[in-house]
Amino acid sequence: MTENILRACGSLSKKDIGQRVSLRGWVNRRRDHGGVIFVDLRDRSGLAQITFSAEVDAALHKLADELRSEYVVALTGQVLARSDENINPQMPTGEIEVEGKTLTILNAAKTPPISVCDEQAVDESIKLRYRYLDLRRDSLKHNLILRSQVTRVVREYLYAQDFLEIETPILTKSTPEGARDYLVPSRVKPGKFYALPQSPQLFKQLLMVAGYERYFQIAKCFRDEDLRADRQPEFTQIDLELSFADEREIRSLVDGLLARIMPLVGQKYPDQVPEITYADAVNFYGSDAPDLRFDLRLIDISDIAARSELKVFKEVVERGGIVKAINVKNADGQLSRSALDAYKDFVGKFGAKGLAWITLRQNEISSPIAKFFTKEQLDGISQRLHGEVGDILLFVADTKKVVHDALGKLRCAIAKDLKLYDPGEFKFCWVVKFPLFEKDSEGRLTSTHHPFTKPLDGNYDENTLAAAYDIVLNGVELGGGSLRIYQPEEQQKVFAALGIDAAAAKEKFGFLLDAFQYGAPPHGGLALGLDRLVMLLARAESIREVIAFPKTKSAECLLTEAPAAVAPEQLRELGLRGAAQ
Ligand code: AMO
Ligand code: AMP
Repeated sequence: MTENILRACGSLSKKDIGQRVSLRGWVNRRRDHGGVIFVDLRDRSGLAQITFSAEVDAALHKLADELRSEYVVALTGQVLARSDENINPQMPTGEIEVEGKTLTILNAAKTPPISVCDEQAVDESIKLRYRYLDLRRDSLKHNLILRSQVTRVVREYLYAQDFLEIETPILTKSTPEGARDYLVPSRVKPGKFYALPQSPQLFKQLLMVAGYERYFQIAKCFRDEDLRADRQPEFTQIDLELSFADEREIRSLVDGLLARIMPLVGQKYPDQVPEITYADAVNFYGSDAPDLRFDLRLIDISDIAARSELKVFKEVVERGGIVKAINVKNADGQLSRSALDAYKDFVGKFGAKGLAWITLRQNEISSPIAKFFTKEQLDGISQRLHGEVGDILLFVADTKKVVHDALGKLRCAIAKDLKLYDPGEFKFCWVVKFPLFEKDSEGRLTSTHHPFTKPLDGNYDENTLAAAYDIVLNGVELGGGSLRIYQPEEQQKVFAALGIDAAAAKEKFGFLLDAFQYGAPPHGGLALGLDRLVMLLARAESIREVIAFPKTKSAECLLTEAPAAVAPEQLRELGLRGAAQ
């Protein structure tokens, strides 16, 4: 008797016709066509159609009749060609079928609350509660396979570039990424806490001091911040650090990595990725992560607005604010009054108090604000925005921050609504020359990145630029990094500008500052958000779709029901009191 060859369902093809095969998997679907039962058997690789005919083997047919969706089975059978009219071109294995010879039901399954064999919409909370069933579906399986391929390419590339993969602690001390920490109480030291790392930042710098030159890690990071589609409380970074390297070298290493990743989704990474300064990104696109798939630039018309009779505009400029506008080309007829009203509500979410508009028509300007401008002023605005008949100009007057936020978000919303770009396009850019500091609400300087970021010049004030760089894809910050300060004098100056005194510095990062006294090399690095990268590659809407076991917007795991209450005894051991006391 010929031996059955163990095969993956999705790997079968015409080449296997005549073979005796052994298959294992789940019943994706069972159909009863009178004397023949058809089973689509599924494993990770795909589907194969199995037939059990009463004519061929009555007992086997009877057993197959017991099968239901998601039963786990092992079977053997013979691969046969399908007759021409039965070929299913939708199915990769659609040219063949397997005539069942033996069947073992390894396990039964309850009727699943999520239908695995089709992609019918299911409430997200059900999908998260039964994540292991949702993960059986093609869309999530595709995403997780892609994620695995990406991490494999990362490892292969970085090993080839002489990097070492080194793990860093999860139970550690607060790291300086600026979000809230997740804390873990210590049992042996009551009243003391570990913090989960927001990134491996300090440890990777210590590894440079330790002489490991080129480090990487696919690192879990934890940040207790407000969640949204591209943020999870625990997420994964492709984290890198290099000694003796400058900004160019670090960025071209990342370019090289992305150039190897993009072909996984049939894309080519550009030879030359555009570079834009932080100042230009914010000025023209209202964001430090600009979406460059479309133009829609923010144009400053504060000077003209100041000379107009429109009170809201004039007053904003007098108070030190700005007026900017975008030109939506050919929008007359495409954007109705109600659409404009909806955009007005939209910018309101970002603090804008209004959205003024001007429609350019033949010999006519339609606008509630036109009467407050002279013809010459209107011409000036139109010229600056390259206005033509059919265009709609949209204006926001407010503080710089509100104008940039509101118009920056509006340009993206309009571009999406009016389909101003190909959603299949991948548009990268490097954002460079970030400011070293930003001002908080009380006017104090804080670090834009973290206090170890190296300044590009020596003034240590609000205008000082940093050797920091972000890689941005389609308006999403994919990754960021910087060169680090490695000389104590420079670090002192930055701490002084931040108002961190010696005692506070010692308390927070004493171990790093100590280490820097024992021969720290010049170093720098970068971290890419793996979840965000895979989300964009998979064209998914949220990073939840590329994480095997994600959390909800309120940071809950619906599958395990974490976070959960713990026994009073556990709290007592940790020296903690319950919250509700
Ligand atoms: P940064 O804080 O910019 O830099 O983080 C790097 C990248 O991590 C991703 N990311 C997130 N992804 C999902 N959910 C989150 N909550 C989340 N937060 C950040 C982003 C981001 O670009 N130590 C520095 C890197 C360095 O300087 O080398 C750091 O962590 O894609
Ligand atoms: P009002 O004088 O409040 O009726 O506003 C006249 C027009 O200017 C309306 O279309 C408003 O939406 C718009 N507008 C009011 N405030 C602002 C602002 N801060 N920025 C942009 N447009 C505004």
